[in-house]
Amino acid sequence: SAEETLILVKPDGVKRGLTGEILRRVEAKGYELVDIRLVEAPRQLLEAHYEEHQGKPFFEPLLEFMSSGPIVAIRARGNRIIEGFRSLAGSTEPTLAAPGTIRGDLGRDWGLSVQQNLVHGSDSTLSAERELALWFD
Ligand code: CMP
Repeated sequence: SAEETLILVKPDGVKRGLTGEILRRVEAKGYELVDIRLVEAPRQLLEAHYEEHQGKPFFEPLLEFMSSGPIVAIRARGNRIIEGFRSLAGSTEPTLAAPGTIRGDLGRDWGLSVQQNLVHGSDSTLSAERELALWFD
């Protein structure tokens, strides 16, 4: 059934000029773009977005990376899009992501690739609602 998710093109994706290619893949899959904005995310927003990772060793570096440039935030809609977009994105680690996925095709196989993995997609209906409220309301 139709649901909504939050997709982020992270600063590495925007800097590398991959926003259009990523949006193309989302649209080609038949998903609908409901809202879109370019954001220089304030620290407070990132802390809330990543609250489940607070205290983890990668938390500060992650926030620093997410503050390193503009992010494209997308509200997208489609049949089972939450699971579907995560499948489109591929494994969190671009090194391991399957060919045909955003991270598998476009991700760089470098040391920081777990962090600089181009995109984010909400992982459940609950996090989609929470994250969409943070980035769009
Ligand atoms: P994302 O889907 O945005 O959700 C959490 C993010 O934390 C994840 O993508 C990565 O960017 C980052 N992340 C997860 N695990 C690690 C890790 N072990 N080291 C660095 N960054 C990580």
